[in-house]
Amino acid sequence: MGLFHTVCKIQDLPEGEGKTVCVGTKLIALFRRDGEILAIDDVCPHMGASLAGGCLQNDIVTCSWHGWRFRITDGTWADNPRIKIGSYPVRVEGEDIQVEVDAQPGSANRG
Ligand code: FES
Repeated sequence: MGLFHTVCKIQDLPEGEGKTVCVGTKLIALFRRDGEILAIDDVCPHMGASLAGGCLQNDIVTCSWHGWRFRITDGTWADNPRIKIGSYPVRVEGEDIQVEVDAQPGSANRG
């Protein structure tokens, strides 16, 4: 079980968009969809593009480089459900978005 780390303010993540944040050396893609905030690995396993910069439709983000598609609810690769990337619990404390990750807190956020 990891620790919850504050990664950004809720107002920094507009509805329907993604944002890259980091916890230690781990890059995480946050998405806000229908008021819910979800977190998966930001680095696309194909060639390393940022998934936070992909196209979000419903619960699927499509990588902007070559179109691999991932469910933001659990990190499942939509075209091959046997493969998953990491997904992370999220909570909101006041205005802070916090993500539960097994890593040291980073000193700066990207995005
Ligand atoms: S880098 Fe994401 S699909 Fe190629």
